[in-house]
Amino acid sequence: MGLNKPRPIIRSYDKQVDRARVEDLERRCEVGPTERIFLFTDTMGDPICRIRNSPMYKMLVAELDKELVGVIQGSIKVVTMNKLGVSGAGGAKVGYILGLRVSPHHRRKGIGSSLVREVEEWFVSNEVDYSYMATEKDNKASVKLFVEKFGYNKFRTPAILVNPVQNRASHISSNVEISKVKVEEAECLYRKFMSSAEFFPKDINDILSNKLSLGTWVAYPKGESLGSSSSWAMVSVWNTGGLFKLWLGKAPLSCLIYTKSSRLISRLFPSSCFNNKFIIKLVPPCIPNFFNPFGFYFMYGVHSEGPLSGKLVRSLCQFVHNMAIASKDCKAIVTEVGGHEFELRHHIPHWKLLSCPEDLWCIKALKIKDHEEEGFTKTPPSKPLFVDPREV
Ligand SMILES: CC(C)(COP(=O)(O)OP(=O)(O)OC[C@H]1O[C@@H](n2cnc3c(N)ncnc32)[C@H](O)[C@@H]1OP(=O)(O)O)[C@@H](O)C(=O)NCCC(=O)NCCS
Repeated sequence: MGLNKPRPIIRSYDKQVDRARVEDLERRCEVGPTERIFLFTDTMGDPICRIRNSPMYKMLVAELDKELVGVIQGSIKVVTMNKLGVSGAGGAKVGYILGLRVSPHHRRKGIGSSLVREVEEWFVSNEVDYSYMATEKDNKASVKLFVEKFGYNKFRTPAILVNPVQNRASHISSNVEISKVKVEEAECLYRKFMSSAEFFPKDINDILSNKLSLGTWVAYPKGESLGSSSSWAMVSVWNTGGLFKLWLGKAPLSCLIYTKSSRLISRLFPSSCFNNKFIIKLVPPCIPNFFNPFGFYFMYGVHSEGPLSGKLVRSLCQFVHNMAIASKDCKAIVTEVGGHEFELRHHIPHWKLLSCPEDLWCIKALKIKDHEEEGFTKTPPSKPLFVDPREV
């Protein structure tokens, strides 16, 4: 059977010849009836924008008879990871796979597998210890491909929390002091309090000083100071809208972009609504207009300590919400927290209806046999999870 499968040419993405064809491939990935309402992504002329901020990245395309039939992206970074250290000094190289798409007419011919294999080879040639990816739990094709065919383990199920930006400012308790910290101070806080989180990136300073990082804010009880207060909280904000825009629209030739961002934002409308031509009437007036291009803020590095930590986290989220009102096109605030961090989830304002309780992360050891690492890829979560804003 393998003999009859076409052999695509897999090569690196070339902006000059591929940009329009990659965008076209996405449009040709229509799923469902023509009456559906779709989530569009505008990468603003740069389909590789989602990985461009990672230390190392690669985008590959698959061609068959000169037709572009598939695409995949990968990025590499070094993280501190519990029990790893295979790359020395408490660090592990991890490769993240995203944006895998195969033209609907060419599916089940091994093209997706060829693209994954090629990215994994690039990881191996760069001494990557672990490869991981995230998908919707119910994306059967993707889960089967990675788990059954490529031997990935279902690893973590963080919750994606979505809060729509509303017209009215949130009330912030007058007993809470909120201040912005400098990048260097933020880096110290991260290294001191969060470096043991899973997937904590060694180049946190690059993230914090990136132009998409709007800043890091801390909260503590009024009248106290950050250093001496027994309760405090912090959060950093990433302006995803600076990279790409999303919007909902109705068109026969379109597709759902299977990226994390679409998983985040597609929650804004349950799929049953997508088929309903009266969708606009169904949407409560307090939900922003998602039919015009919009961006969203991604909150990362949420951390808190002390008896008042919940209240302080909530105040920070309200502060970010109010900041978003002032921005021209930010229509949602999104964050992702570890599956077992129920307490934290409780204090982050979000709409249950719009949020996703379980995003599925899958991981595979590339360098070592998993049993040599006490089955790390199969261990239950015991630490907070750092979700890198560059991978949203
Ligand atoms: C997921 C996707 C990339 C798979 O591409 P593909 O070229 O069809 O994949 P392959 O032909 O290499 O399939 C490899 C294996 O994946 C599994 N698989 C692929 N599509 C499947 C489907 N629709 N249902 C069940 N299993 C499927 C099978 O185990 C298959 O092996 P088999 O054909 O020998 O049974 C493609 O369906 C796609 O583009 N989907 C939309 C975008 C998406 O969901 N991307 C994944 C985001 S992480």
